Amino acid sequence: MCGIVGYVGGRVAQDVILEGLKRLEYRGYDSAGVATIFEGKLNIKRSEGKLEKLATKLKKSPLKGSVGIGHTRWATHGRPTEANAHPHKEGDVAVVHNGIIENYMELREELKSEGAKFKSETDTEILSHLIHREIKKGHTLEDSVRAAIKYVKGTYALAVVSAKEPERIVAASYDCPLVVGFAKNEAVISSDVLAILEISDQAIFLSDGEVVTVTRDSVDVTNLDGVGVTKTPRRIDWSPVMAEKDGYRHFMQKEIFEQPRAVTDTFRGQVMEEEGDIFFEDFDLDLDSIDRIYLIACGTSWHAALVGKFLLEEYFNVPVEVDLASEFRYRKPLVGKNTPVIAISQSGETADTLAAIKEVSRRGAPIISISNVVESSISRVSDIGMFTHAGPEIGVASTKAFTAQLTSLFMLTLYLGRRKGLIDSALGREFIQELVRVPGKIEKVLSLDDEIAKLSKKYFHATDFLYLGRGINYPIALEGALKLKELSYIHAEGYPAGEMKHGPIALVDEELPIVVLAPRDRYYPKILSNMEEAKARGGRIIAIVSEGDTDAKKIADDFIEIPHTPHYLMPIVMTIPLQMLAYHIAVLKGTDVDQPRNLAKSVTVE
Ligand code: AGP
Repeated sequence: MCGIVGYVGGRVAQDVILEGLKRLEYRGYDSAGVATIFEGKLNIKRSEGKLEKLATKLKKSPLKGSVGIGHTRWATHGRPTEANAHPHKEGDVAVVHNGIIENYMELREELKSEGAKFKSETDTEILSHLIHREIKKGHTLEDSVRAAIKYVKGTYALAVVSAKEPERIVAASYDCPLVVGFAKNEAVISSDVLAILEISDQAIFLSDGEVVTVTRDSVDVTNLDGVGVTKTPRRIDWSPVMAEKDGYRHFMQKEIFEQPRAVTDTFRGQVMEEEGDIFFEDFDLDLDSIDRIYLIACGTSWHAALVGKFLLEEYFNVPVEVDLASEFRYRKPLVGKNTPVIAISQSGETADTLAAIKEVSRRGAPIISISNVVESSISRVSDIGMFTHAGPEIGVASTKAFTAQLTSLFMLTLYLGRRKGLIDSALGREFIQELVRVPGKIEKVLSLDDEIAKLSKKYFHATDFLYLGRGINYPIALEGALKLKELSYIHAEGYPAGEMKHGPIALVDEELPIVVLAPRDRYYPKILSNMEEAKARGGRIIAIVSEGDTDAKKIADDFIEIPHTPHYLMPIVMTIPLQMLAYHIAVLKGTDVDQPRNLAKSVTVE
C-alpha cells in the first residue's frame, strides 16, 4: 500500500517525483523520500510523516539531477520513522518498494553473516543489500536486480537507481502494480497511472515477473531470465485535471458530487433502450451451465457484492454466495467451471481479492472482474473484465466507485436476466428507463447538502452509531456505517433491522443515534416497527425516507427525503445521503477526510 515514482528525462527529477507522489499519497502517507543522481553522486532526502514535510525539506535544500526515484509509505514492517522511510541506500544503490518480502528475516540473517550492516527495521532494505551484493560481483544494475529478486519470496513493485549507471532506472513487479509512462526523451514509472498523467498518456503495464529498464529514450522489458518481452502501449484516457480537486474542499467531496457522471459514464454506451437490454462485448460464458455464482471482494466493494446477490438471485435465478476475499482465499472454495466468480475491486489491486481469484483460476472457475482501473492486476487475470467508469477515485473512502459498482452489477443482472429469458424486453425497457433516471435522482439528493451539513451538527459528538436496513438496503446500512467509522473514527455498526431484537436493541439509549433506511418498499411496515421499538427506548432516529413519506417522518427525530426509486436501484440512491452525512460529520470532527489515519486507498498487502 505504498506509492513509488521514478523519473528519467530532461526535467528536474525531484519536482516530477514530488508531483507524482502527491498523486499517490492516498496509497499511504506515513513517510516519504526521494533519491536523485547528480554528477555521479547519489543523493537522498527522507522524512517521516506526510509528503508535505519532505517537500519542505527539499525546498530548503533541493536535490539536483534528472534521474531519480521516490516513495510514499504505508508502514508494514517498521515504524513510520525517517530511518524506515524509503529510498533505502546501500553503496551507490537506492531502492523504493511497494509490497511485502515474506522471507526478509532469513535473508537479513544471511546478509548479516556476510557483514551487511542494517540501518532500518524494514523488509525493503534487504533489496538494497541484495542488489549491491550483485553489483559488487561486477554485474550491471539490470542483471543485479534480476538476480536479487530471485532470492525474494513475496510481493514487490520496486525501482532502483545506481550512481554507477546514472542514466537509467530499473524496476520490477510481482503482484504489485507498476506502470511506465513515456514521451519524447523522458519516462516515468509509477504504482498508478495517476502519477504519469503529467508526462504521458501512453503507458505499458508490467506483468508479474517482468523487469523494465528505463532511460530517457528507451523502455526495455524482460522476464526474470533476461529474455525480452514485447509490451503493447495503452492510451490512458484520464486527464491530469481529473486528478485535481476542482475547487472542492476534499477529493471525497468532489467524488461524492461526481456520482451522477460516474453512474452515467458506467452505463453510457452499453444500454440498448429499444431492446431493453445491455450490450457486452464478447461475454463468453455458458450461462446454462452455471450452478452458482460467487461474489468476492473487500470493504466497500464487498457491500456492493451483497447488493449483487439480491439482484442476481431475483433476476437471474441462480444461487449466489458472497464472500470476503480474505476469508474466501483460505477456505476450500467449492468452485469449478460451472461456478463463475465475480471479483469486485475499485483499485483492481487489493491483495486478498487478487490472491483469491488466482486460487479460483487454479480451480478452473471462470473469473469476471468489476474494476475501476484499466489494466489493473485483477482485471488482467480475469477471463471477463468489466469496468466501472467512475474516473480516478483519490479519496481513501470509496464513494463514486461504489455507486458505479452497483450500476455495473445492475447492468450485469439485466444482461444475464435477458439472456436467460427471466427479464423480457418490456421489463428490460423499464429497468433501463429507471437506470437512466438515477443520475438525476442523485443530483436531487446532492442538492440537500446544506440540510445534511446542518443535521450533522446535531449528531457529530456521538460516540456510537447504529445503521439499520432491510433486504437489498441492508448492505447499504453496512456501507453507511463503514463510511462514518473510516472517516470520523466514530464507532458505527450496520445491522439488518430484523436483528434488533436479537441483541443490538440493548445498545439503544438517548445517546445512540440510529440511522434507519426506510424507503417505501415491501419492508416498510417492518421498518416502522423497528423504529417504534427503538424510539420507545430513547433512541435518536435519523430516517432516510422516500419523498412524500408521512409515517416514518412522524416517528423519526430527523429525516432526509430521497426520490423514490424501484428496489432494484434504490441502493444507489440510498447511499448518497449516508456518504454526505459521514463526510460532514468527519469535517466537523476535523479528521483527515481524504487520508484517514491508518488507512490507504489500495490495500495491496495482506
Ligand atoms: C472503502 O471506503 C474502503 N476504503 C475500503 O473498504 C475499500 O473498499 C476496500 O479496501 C476494497 O478496495 P478495492 O475496491 O480497491 O478492492
